[in-house]
Amino acid sequence: MHLAIFSGSVFGTADEVADVAAERCRAAGLQVTRLKPLSVDALLEANADALLACCSTTGMGELPDTIQDFYYEMQSRFPLLTDKPFGVIALGDSGYGDTFCQGGEQIRELLLELQAREISPMLRLDASETVTPETDAEPWLDEFVAQLQAG
Ligand SMILES: Cc1cc2nc3c(=O)[nH]c(=O)nc-3n(C[C@H](O)[C@H](O)[C@H](O)COP(=O)(O)O)c2cc1C
Repeated sequence: MHLAIFSGSVFGTADEVADVAAERCRAAGLQVTRLKPLSVDALLEANADALLACCSTTGMGELPDTIQDFYYEMQSRFPLLTDKPFGVIALGDSGYGDTFCQGGEQIRELLLELQAREISPMLRLDASETVTPETDAEPWLDEFVAQLQAG
């Protein structure tokens, strides 16, 4: 099972969560490609069996700059990811109200439009509740890996 992991981040937290997730997934026996820097070509060349995205939110529910080009290029090239399992870890702050975790939500909707298959409900990590998002993601990640390995 080959997993591609990518992230979009302003201050580096989502990148860090993705890096830690990559190590944890490798330790669980997955082959992991950490797409850094991120590009559509790199994602398609990796040709992974499954995808994991970690993405924060900025502005008023906007995607971080580091993932915007990727997002728009995916929308215009529209490479179908039919039935490819994926999960999204969204980082946000519930203090922003309605736009809480909208960046992660946009990535999730993009992957669903491309016909990928969400195998775990999106994890929302709330910066107003935790200062340890990497460790908070561990139980969700373990479940995600178990779902992947179960096929
Ligand atoms: C200027 C600014 C705008 C933000 N806007 C939102 C938002 O609209 N919705 C949300 O859920 N979080 C918002 N956040 C919170 C960040 O998404 C959160 O702190 C996240 O952990 C940052 O991760 P990063 O270091 O990967 O960028 C905002 C943070 C800043 C500084």
